Amino acid sequence: MKKTVILLVFTFALVACQSEATILQENETITFYNKNCAGCHGLELNGTGLAGGIRNLNKKDILDSINNGEENMPANILTGESAKRVALWVSKQK
Ligand code: HEC
Repeated sequence: MKKTVILLVFTFALVACQSEATILQENETITFYNKNCAGCHGLELNGTGLAGGIRNLNKKDILDSINNGEENMPANILTGESAKRVALWVSKQK
């Protein structure tokens, strides 16, 4: 019984830590977006005078745009893991 309780507490602690890490990672991803993309695509992803909105796109297309660039958008503003994370996050903004 005691072991079960300890195991349960441990499991809850682990789950709590994990979701906190997920939130921190999401905040970091939003910061990447805000610093590297929002200047042209807007904090709300609805576009600015410089570029259009980028809602309702799929992750692959977004990643292609980041990797290869678009007119007036340089390639590789972000690379590697941060590019993937921003692409995934943007694709979830419907
Ligand atoms: C210097 C300005 C600038 C920055 C910074 C910039 N973009 Fe762009 N982006 C553009 C322009 C211009 C286009 C061409 C189409 C348009 O006007 O929306 C474009 C196109 C795109 C497209 C294709 C849109 C579509 O409808 O197919 C995506 C996706 C995209 N950008 C994502 C991003 C992401 C993610 C970042 C940050 C890593 C970023 N952009 C940073 C200017 C920019």
